[in-house]
Amino acid sequence: MFIARTIPELRDHLTRFERPAFVPTMGNLHDGHIALVTQAKPLGDATVASIFVNRLQFLPHEDFDTYPRTWDSDCAKLEAAGCDVLFAPDEKALYPEPQTCKVHPDPALADILEGHFRPGFFVGVCTVVMKLFSCVQPRVAVFGKKDYQQLMMIRHLVRQFALPIEIVGGETRRADDGLALSSRNGYLSEGERAEAVQLSRALKEIAEAVRGGGELAAIEGRPMQALAQRGWQPDYLTVRRRLDLQPPAALDGAEPLVALAAARLGSTRLIDNLEIEPWAAKP
Ligand code: PAF
Repeated sequence: MFIARTIPELRDHLTRFERPAFVPTMGNLHDGHIALVTQAKPLGDATVASIFVNRLQFLPHEDFDTYPRTWDSDCAKLEAAGCDVLFAPDEKALYPEPQTCKVHPDPALADILEGHFRPGFFVGVCTVVMKLFSCVQPRVAVFGKKDYQQLMMIRHLVRQFALPIEIVGGETRRADDGLALSSRNGYLSEGERAEAVQLSRALKEIAEAVRGGGELAAIEGRPMQALAQRGWQPDYLTVRRRLDLQPPAALDGAEPLVALAAARLGSTRLIDNLEIEPWAAKP
């Protein structure tokens, strides 16, 4: 695996390839990331991953400084997965001057859900992804569905700027008990880890209740209250249209939906989601 630390090094090496397939990450890699690399492999003539903990997408009180940096094990995992190129710039290499030119995504998508609770988060994500796209110039890029809103945001960015990049979504990898794999799961204490499965259970309950019919406010409210009673601090548990992440007009089974959740357990904020397929027969 070739490791590029600077943009010129990366660009020089990538002249050998025509169709790089790209998986951007912030490191601390788990099986979910590696599944994205495996998914990317047949999609291009070189598989490129990046590791860059992007300060721009962290709020001042968030975990930028303590975000786990696990260089040796990340390299070993990428190597074993058959990754061809790793782009791992430091801050000076990616942002040699303050990044004052930023991508401001559509507020209709960027200021809701994650964007509401983490203002500026998607400006940081879209800015770094645009810059990484400019460095790697991939033909395909794979993003995990675990960060559902991020995946939608990137699809929108690519469409709006007519970037010649196909965006592919990777399924969420889960532990045996259903907890979605996440770099932040490592923050959980033993007790919290046992409790953490309740988030994916709440999403399953919501999905079943949606199919069973009823009033949306109650369907969302019940699991939210139940989690709060168990000691969680939920930010949102909500059902949205997959099209634009807006609330559905009706629960008639006609359109694809997704249940999304974000909640804090102790000091760890977890997110997860579950797609709900349409169930009404088409006329
Ligand atoms: O999903 C992530 O790990 C990050 O948001 C990304 C896409 C690598 C941008 O920093």
